[in-house]
Amino acid sequence: MLSATTREFYESQLQQLSNAKRRRQCTTYEPLDSTHVRLNGKTYLMMASNNYLGLTHQPQVLASAQKAINAYGTGSGGARLTSGTYPLLPQLETQLACLKETEQALVFNTGYMANVGTISGLMETGDYILSDALNHASIIDGCRLSSATIKVYEHNNCEHLEEILKELPPTGKRLIVTDGVFSMDGDLAPLPDLVTLAKRYGALLMVDDAHATGVIGEGRGTAHHFNCSKDVDIQLGTLSKALGSEGGFVCANELLINTLINRSRSFIFSTALVPAAIGAAQQSLNLLTSDTTLYNQLHHNIEYMTQALLQQGIAVTHKTTATALVSNYQPTPIFPIVVGSAEKALRLSQQLFEKGIILTAIRPPTVPHGASRLRLTVTAAHQEADLQYVAHTLGELI
Ligand SMILES: Cc1ncc(COP(=O)(O)O)c(C=O)c1O
Repeated sequence: MLSATTREFYESQLQQLSNAKRRRQCTTYEPLDSTHVRLNGKTYLMMASNNYLGLTHQPQVLASAQKAINAYGTGSGGARLTSGTYPLLPQLETQLACLKETEQALVFNTGYMANVGTISGLMETGDYILSDALNHASIIDGCRLSSATIKVYEHNNCEHLEEILKELPPTGKRLIVTDGVFSMDGDLAPLPDLVTLAKRYGALLMVDDAHATGVIGEGRGTAHHFNCSKDVDIQLGTLSKALGSEGGFVCANELLINTLINRSRSFIFSTALVPAAIGAAQQSLNLLTSDTTLYNQLHHNIEYMTQALLQQGIAVTHKTTATALVSNYQPTPIFPIVVGSAEKALRLSQQLFEKGIILTAIRPPTVPHGASRLRLTVTAAHQEADLQYVAHTLGELI
């Protein structure tokens, strides 16, 4: 029963968020294809999705999802360890392990659950987790849930990371964890340097490639891009972004995967993914590994958008800190247009909406205070005319 005081508490919390221009709400759009949605009879251009290869509406991917439903039904009926491991799951895991050049893979229901379940499954009290300051919320939550000691190092700052590693007591396991492509900034983790530190200090190294899979390193992700797949212990990813489906995964050696099967609570205690999601992801992976057209188109569009924004005088840096390494630069589809206050980001987002463009305002706590932004994302499915229109409109408004 919601008592008057409890009601007042939640109402005042929401009011405070509204006052700070940080209240969030869901808007229901009707997806028309991978880059357009409809709302109240009007069509909008989607510039805020992570559907990087535009695969959510690809005919072969749709057919594969449908085929999976026809073969295995709409639901999995149970957790993987009880009744839910149907043949498509191990097949997909083999494909993923192959993509990431690891011994094995394990599918989770979301990338969020993969992060939470992997970190808390591998680390415990007495262990140390070294986590980049700009890591995704699901990494942060996994660290907290593990009850290991968490040490946050400055974004992409390996000197700071080493200072922390040097000070750690000799006991306990260590895990260095980082986004591969940072979700809100689009920059890359300096993986080769992290590999060196992980080896020097006996730490496990985990990279979250949610925004890198299908996007960099020939679509294989950051470890492949930096040619260090064999030295990254855990490569995590999601099926929900470039692969156009839903679900998360972890690629690692047999020992770590078996440990997760036995210790990862988000894996053990949740019903397995539905066949449609697996069928779609399988076909997306087939397309990604057999044909470079979409991958190349995505990179063409990234470059096109970079130039179009530069022509409008809009800075494209993919860097948020002075410590980020210039040699580390790699074009990614995430363009952070940092505008400062939450109020300004919201106002711009609303003005863009009126011009038919969906570009969501990203505000604290997703990004630091004073770093609110429009997080513009480009996909392989956007047309050059779309990208020109967006850059031109931004140029007028900013
Ligand atoms: C870096 C990163 N990791 C993990 C996730 C979670 O993935 P999913 O959406 O599949 O839960 C996201 C997406 O929001 C992300 O940006």
